[in-house]
Amino acid sequence: MITFDEKTGLFHLKNSSMSYVMQVVRGKYLLHRYWGKAIREFRDGRAFQAIDRAFSPQPGDYENERTFSLDVLPQEYPAYGHLDYRTPAYEVRLADGTTTTELRYECYEIKKGKPSLAGLPAAYAEDHEAETLVIKLKDLAGKLAAELSYTIFAELPIVARNAKLTNIGGEALDLTGAASFALDFSDHDFDRLSLYGGHAAERSLERVRLMRGIQENSSRRGASSHQQSPFLALARKDAGENSGEVYGFSLVWSGEFSFKTEVEQFGTTRVVGGINPQGFCWHLEPKESFQTPEAWLAYSSEGLNGMSQARHHIVRGKHRDALRPILVNNWEATYFDFDDEKMDKLAETAKELGIELLVLDDGWFGKRKDDNSSLGDWQVNMSKLKKGLKGVAESAHKRGLKFGLWFEPEMVSEDSDLYRAHPDWALQAPAYPHTYSRHQLVLDLSRQEVRDYLVESVGKILGENPIDYVKWDFNRHITDAFSGKLPSERQGEVRTRFVLGLYEVLERLTQAFPEVLFESCSGGGGRFDAGMLYYMPQTWTSDDTDAVQRLSIQSGTSLVFPPITMGAHVSVVPNHQVGRVTSLQMRGLCAMMGDFGYELDITKFTEEERQEVKAQIELYKKIRPTLQLGSFRRLLTPFEGTKNETAWQFISRDGSQVVLMYFKTLAEPAAPIRLLKLAELDPEAEYELTEYLPAKRTSMDFGGEAALQLKGRSFYGDELMYSGLAVEKIDTDFAAYCWVFEKKNK
Ligand code: DGJ
Repeated sequence: MITFDEKTGLFHLKNSSMSYVMQVVRGKYLLHRYWGKAIREFRDGRAFQAIDRAFSPQPGDYENERTFSLDVLPQEYPAYGHLDYRTPAYEVRLADGTTTTELRYECYEIKKGKPSLAGLPAAYAEDHEAETLVIKLKDLAGKLAAELSYTIFAELPIVARNAKLTNIGGEALDLTGAASFALDFSDHDFDRLSLYGGHAAERSLERVRLMRGIQENSSRRGASSHQQSPFLALARKDAGENSGEVYGFSLVWSGEFSFKTEVEQFGTTRVVGGINPQGFCWHLEPKESFQTPEAWLAYSSEGLNGMSQARHHIVRGKHRDALRPILVNNWEATYFDFDDEKMDKLAETAKELGIELLVLDDGWFGKRKDDNSSLGDWQVNMSKLKKGLKGVAESAHKRGLKFGLWFEPEMVSEDSDLYRAHPDWALQAPAYPHTYSRHQLVLDLSRQEVRDYLVESVGKILGENPIDYVKWDFNRHITDAFSGKLPSERQGEVRTRFVLGLYEVLERLTQAFPEVLFESCSGGGGRFDAGMLYYMPQTWTSDDTDAVQRLSIQSGTSLVFPPITMGAHVSVVPNHQVGRVTSLQMRGLCAMMGDFGYELDITKFTEEERQEVKAQIELYKKIRPTLQLGSFRRLLTPFEGTKNETAWQFISRDGSQVVLMYFKTLAEPAAPIRLLKLAELDPEAEYELTEYLPAKRTSMDFGGEAALQLKGRSFYGDELMYSGLAVEKIDTDFAAYCWVFEKKNK
């Protein structure tokens, strides 16, 4: 997969879908040459042209060669303020205040498989699944060295990159920026796609023209955030869901990040991504290194769906390929107002309905009765739960349900025993008052004693109680990132050390409790990133449980992450976030497109609702392996056209079952008949429609009884793909449909 040609200095990383080519030029400079669809051999048809570009500087060795400038050449890891004016990959401040360095090529190494990154989450691969190239660079003046790592996977259209920077000089230096990657494209004929949002409104797709100058998506919040996601794509203007070239970038990092694009004077584009350099300053004593997080560079010649198929090897452990349980969570059912009896009733009803996991959310510990107190005091509140956690767990277990529990370990309430004992454990700027958010403070996870406390206190609860699932929440962002434990020259490390500290805690806890299914959460999907997925196989996608909002939140999330990673629940109507009343069918089908559950008072269902919920659960159990472990594809997204329709298709791993979901948010007069064209079916196979749930008719419906008698009929794959399936027109808002096909003569 990786070759190096000594004569030309060309590195070629290649698999069946893409090529990534770099070149060592003049024995010194590591330049980028090509990334895109796989090519047999790179023979330099796009040779560099010798042009004298005014105001572009020459390296000292080439003073008289005015046509040679790194300012106009595509680079792999460019420096700041020396030979290139474009956005740098890294920045340093040497002991004497100099910010100049010049990294030159030294040597390379090719390894089988993919090495892990100490202390950081990263994709993994067996030796036969990937190859890794490490290119070593050394500063001309002997101050800094860099190791750039590139892994190419046999089966994935992805290059995973990271950089390690080492102080090789005799004096300390400060790294004031260290991106995970930089990449230059020879043109800027792209649209720029990013995911933006807010609390309860995560990951809407923004597609704009890539503009000249610098455009940035970033988080400065100490977390990957609801507001922007650590993801960026450059798509050719004609690229859509199913065709066209798309270059996707994402980070395996849960802290603040930055993705910059810069279209410069000659129309080329640079992309730089990694830890947000603002406020970042990592002090390196001689011989010390800094390891950047990993970045994934995904190439698709088959549109956005092609990019989304690029499944990363990131989720680990026994739950990776295991079906996720159907849960009921008491948060929107009771908020803080619960006791043993209420939980027991939820468990009883859950059992009757076919639910498999009972989750006790916030409020079970300390003296917490609202969100003002007790974070940090991870001891059960016996006045609420008279039989303790064991009692609630037992009420679930004796009915054959699993039991799950909520924590928010990275936080502390001022009103808590933990804060009273260790006020200095909270991040705070010494001479300033605290900054509050949800009345809480953030613990200083750069401190070992804080990390140990979290592992011990959470570990004690997990060790002493039969707990099958943990929801790990994070309900505010970081401000005043000052640690009482670090010297002043290391305060610029606190935000990064916080995340590294979190990773240490998660590694210790998830290794100690491998049976527990962990779900990450940050006020919904405020930390939905690949870093968290390395430790926790699923994430609560959003605090917005309204089915209409969820269609866009889940569609946006699906650009980067598969459905099995997205927690999705049916909640009550009117919806608690937006007050909307949608059908139970729409709420059910929408939630089935993620890790399915209910989050409402299930003891209050009417008999009709009970029957419908039972039927939903029964259907879900039949199609769950396909929805969770199969392949999926967006046929229609709420970001396009009238923004009124969403359709997702799922195919089981063995190709024998196909599930199609379609949603139309608002009914329209004079609407065209919607044809859904499926994809990736076997054109010659017959598929029988074994389940068909059309939207529920209303009295206003003029279509007559079951206009399309589809159930039981069979269609060849080619007809479903090329001619398509007509959606039965039903005049109602919030219409949701589901079709299940089984392949005949499998
Ligand atoms: C935010 C989460 O996203 C909710 O689901 C719930 O767990 C609350 N926190 C509890 O405080």
